[in-house]
Amino acid sequence: MKSIDVCLTHDQLNNYNHIGKVVVIIDVLRATSTINTILYHGAKLVKPVKTLEECKKLKDENYIIMAERMGKKVEGFDYGNSPTKINRNQIKGCKVAIATSNGTKAIIKTKGSKISLIASFLNISKVINFINKESEDTLLVCSGWQGSANLEDTLCAGGIISGLNDYNKISDIALIAKKLYKSSKNNILEEMMKSSHAKRLSRYDNILDIEFCSKLNTQPIIPILKDDFLTLM
Ligand code: MLT
Repeated sequence: MKSIDVCLTHDQLNNYNHIGKVVVIIDVLRATSTINTILYHGAKLVKPVKTLEECKKLKDENYIIMAERMGKKVEGFDYGNSPTKINRNQIKGCKVAIATSNGTKAIIKTKGSKISLIASFLNISKVINFINKESEDTLLVCSGWQGSANLEDTLCAGGIISGLNDYNKISDIALIAKKLYKSSKNNILEEMMKSSHAKRLSRYDNILDIEFCSKLNTQPIIPILKDDFLTLM
């Protein structure tokens, strides 16, 4: 019996059992969109880390280090968390370490799953097609923002659920996410612009990121978590 469920923020993951399930981590603005972009443009691997200190130490191991807090680049790191500001030639073949406010913490918490997939609008159809071939229960983990659900991650979760078939059980929150997507699927960017984080990013001149992260299927790959690293499936 294959079930579909959604966890609206990584802080609530303790209330779910993700062990042995197909877990999909979503942080549309911007961690999973950025990770997808980094691997799509040839980085060797991405290491999600929880703290700034851990991330900075990896510079000594020849990692490109990226860090964001409150939507802004952290001083002393090579990059923040903007997928449109990355020098694609620089990251090709490199190891990248990234620490963000919510998304990388969400990813790390999903260890123990059957498989942890990184999803955003950029690879949404690839993720849907993968899940439809699996028989295990599926848990979509939205990163959210500082313990609160956010619009864009829930919208993307609804988009994934809208493409799923062959499940026997779907939670109420998954149904809500599906309905949200159904009502917004023809104007994803317009809907995303209503979110609190999009407004926060807009204040820091990151409008390009929001437009970039709203486009469906522009980067058809699937990053997966293997041990402590994210690589292409
Ligand atoms: C997060 O981890 O909450 C987001 O990725 C933050 C951001 O990129 O602005």
